Amino acid sequence: MKILVTGGAGYIGSHTVLSLLNNDFDVIVYDNLSNANIESIRRVENLTGKKVSFIKGDIQDKATLTKVFSEFVIDAVIHFAALKAVGESSTLPLKYYQNNVHGTLNLLEVMMAFRVYDFIFSSSATVYGGENVVPYEETMPLGEASSPYGASKVMIERALKDLAQANSEFRAVCLRYFNPIGAHESGDIGEDPKGIPNNLLPYVAQVAVGKRESLQVFGNDYSTQDGTCERDYLHVMDLAEGHVSAVNWLKKNSSFTGVEAFNLGTGRAISVLEIINAFEQACQQKIPYHFAPRRYGDLPAFWANAEKANKQLGWKATRNISQMMADTWRWQSNNPQGYPN
Ligand code: NAD
Ligand code: UFG
Repeated sequence: MKILVTGGAGYIGSHTVLSLLNNDFDVIVYDNLSNANIESIRRVENLTGKKVSFIKGDIQDKATLTKVFSEFVIDAVIHFAALKAVGESSTLPLKYYQNNVHGTLNLLEVMMAFRVYDFIFSSSATVYGGENVVPYEETMPLGEASSPYGASKVMIERALKDLAQANSEFRAVCLRYFNPIGAHESGDIGEDPKGIPNNLLPYVAQVAVGKRESLQVFGNDYSTQDGTCERDYLHVMDLAEGHVSAVNWLKKNSSFTGVEAFNLGTGRAISVLEIINAFEQACQQKIPYHFAPRRYGDLPAFWANAEKANKQLGWKATRNISQMMADTWRWQSNNPQGYPN
């Protein structure tokens, strides 16, 4: 089975490509490398001993997408390609809507033209907004997204529903990720943010490796156990395997049409201070940090009810927090500057 993976050179994409190859799928990666390094794909090939067809291209470029769909017989698409910096999306909303929403519509149009109907979409827990009570469940209505980035995910989920209503052959799975962290246990591939990391774990790891001085902990006056925000962190390899489960689920359920959403999380939330503590154990050193004001848009705490993915996809996150920390540290200490340029 041949799978087109957009954004496959990025953080979650590269780990998923590795899992797909290890499960004997053929993979074509389509990525414009705006937030990735081709070295991730080379390393995935080394780790698996298998080849990936790589095309440097933009999802906004319909001509190149059309060429790819004419050249390869594609059975399904896993769509990671997106811009993901929540803060930046508020200052550059049009860029985010162009890239994420318009780019996805382009991709779907080309898929329809080539009669490729199976689609797996990288959605996010952010679609639940602040209105729903935790833990989040798939039956809840989508919330009011707190950023253009979040709104782009809500819009795409809606577009997928409408497309499925209009075209009975179209089948989509929306995987709503909670907080992916960690790296492949080899330490050869991992998260390599450009510039100052927005997310907690890459920032902590860069402080540990001496690239940054001190971590700012955004807010210590939340109504949580220790006053810092709580999130449902899951290992990126568990998340990668979630995509393999979703592809297999589509394959097995040939009569399914429509759109189905699944939360991918552990079902447990842990705080920023607990993360720092766990990371200190993994790297055997103190992480300098200081408390800073709350970050705009952050919710105090959210986590997944991941029962549906367990029951229907047969998927469950199995790696624990110390493994997430150990693997992050292995990647960061082996690659202090990220992938070589
Ligand atoms: P990433 O930035 O590492 O990966 C995204 C990839 O898409 C990059 O390789 C980038 O070069 C590529 N890309 C971006 N725009 C493109 C375009 N127009 N055409 C072709 N390629 C393009 O990010 P990630 O963390 O691996 O996230 C993957 C997906 O998961 C994204 O859709 C993101 O919104 C979603 N997601 C991520 C998180 C998270 O915490 N990392 C949480 C929820 C959802
Ligand atoms: N944090 C810090 N210091 C930092 C970075 C983060 O204290 O330098 C805190 C944040 O305030 C938050 C927690 O660490 O409490 C986690 O922050 P992240 O930025 O790592 O993750 P978020 O939960 O804010 O965002 C993630 C994804 C988004 C997605 C969102 C909701 O990165 O893509 O979950 O699903 F939209």
